[in-house]
Amino acid sequence: MASVAAFDQADRDLVARFEAAGQGHVFRFLPQLAAAEVSDLLADARQVDLAKLAQILASAPATGGESAEAGQIEPPGDELQRMEATEDHRRLRLAAHDRGLHEIEAGRVAVVVAAGGQGTRLGSTAPKGMWPVGPLTGKPLLAWHAEKVRYWAKRVGRPIPFVVLVSDATAQATADFVRWHNHFGLDPTWIKLVKQGSLPAVDDAGRIVLTSASRIALAPNGHGGVYAALRESRVIDLLADHGVRTLAYCQVDNPLIRTLDPLFVGFHVRNESEFSSKSVMKRGPAEKVGVFGRVGGRPAIVEYSELTVEQESAIDAEGALVFGQGNIAAHCIDVAFARRMADEGLPYHRARKKVPCADATGRTVEPDRPNATKFECFVFDALPRAARTVVVEARRSDEFSPIKNATGDDTPDTARRDLIEMFRGWMRRAGVTPPDGAIEISPFDAPDEHAYRALRGLARA
Ligand code: UTP
Repeated sequence: MASVAAFDQADRDLVARFEAAGQGHVFRFLPQLAAAEVSDLLADARQVDLAKLAQILASAPATGGESAEAGQIEPPGDELQRMEATEDHRRLRLAAHDRGLHEIEAGRVAVVVAAGGQGTRLGSTAPKGMWPVGPLTGKPLLAWHAEKVRYWAKRVGRPIPFVVLVSDATAQATADFVRWHNHFGLDPTWIKLVKQGSLPAVDDAGRIVLTSASRIALAPNGHGGVYAALRESRVIDLLADHGVRTLAYCQVDNPLIRTLDPLFVGFHVRNESEFSSKSVMKRGPAEKVGVFGRVGGRPAIVEYSELTVEQESAIDAEGALVFGQGNIAAHCIDVAFARRMADEGLPYHRARKKVPCADATGRTVEPDRPNATKFECFVFDALPRAARTVVVEARRSDEFSPIKNATGDDTPDTARRDLIEMFRGWMRRAGVTPPDGAIEISPFDAPDEHAYRALRGLARA
């Protein structure tokens, strides 16, 4: 049993601050905790920014932050670059590709992969970045992305900064993983792990939830935490000092994505965009992805939950869904704009979740229904604040098959299936007959179809 008298003054001040904020209950099991548990609880408590929590509780709206009211949403405008099968469009895409490649060659692009999430739906205890994804090799997701970056670094003959967003939930395991994998063959000085903040879950009365007698229910503050993480780690200064102008952002759980895509970078730079996105056609009206549209005249990404059933299934003159361009969470972000977002801050969204919590005796109870609220900010809430933007339509089969769930849609099995199908498509279009069964093309050999064709000595598709 720990003696509270063993506390130093800083610990006592910490408890006093919690009491003053009406959160003193966090320490209610203190007298019955062992010394190691007291250390855990104090360490968790030190991470809680009480002033920020109070501010969020006072201001976070029930659903989206700067999101739309149903009815105010309009379809996207000329910011959307649709995929068209015309010769003009093909030329435009080739020009964008060449421009993007030039930016990468000049060292003006860094890659940022968000890997700070808890992977709750997948049920993985390790960070999702460690999930095996190579259909033959079982190569893990983070290594899969890193190899694509390695391909480009080799191609342009210079290191490309590889920034990984981590959180308290993933930081240590990811750092160890990167070391065990010898930095994936990348220049170690240019792999940067930046840590986002965490926020506690609260109950209906706004009281911080304990998951056990000695642990606070802390969760990462959403992928929108990337802006503050870049600023607080000073990695954004380092990148800017080295001439980086564009952050090529994607999320670790989508193995198909072109982690670094010259075409996308090219569209972003040519349009002098501050925040660019990639989209794919939704599978159907009910697919649960955010969609591109306009809110109050400004380009925005609208959460699926904010569309009415009529909006969700509305069809345009060509028979396509009016709100059919789904967000695949790949963005090009201007470095100065990212810094501005870190300074301005983003709104926090509330999500009701099932959070394991301590009962009256301090024992952990698994709730059978949502019992607490978590707070997250989203990387794409920056979009309406961008002076200029572009949305580049991509082919789903080439770029999007995220691993979200253990069963149903968007699982490890569907991602594996889609990877294999993508490789088969590359081979067939290159005049190669794919073998039966699983196949894998190493991302380091060919991160995309252009590279695969080049490997085979063929012209660009
Ligand atoms: P999701 O919102 O799908 O969350 O994140 P998740 O953590 O992967 O899974 P659930 O919701 O707990 O089941 C999409 C991407 O954003 C990253 C994740 O690592 C994933 O790559 N992310 C999410 C962060 O980097 N930080 C966060 O706070 C949340």
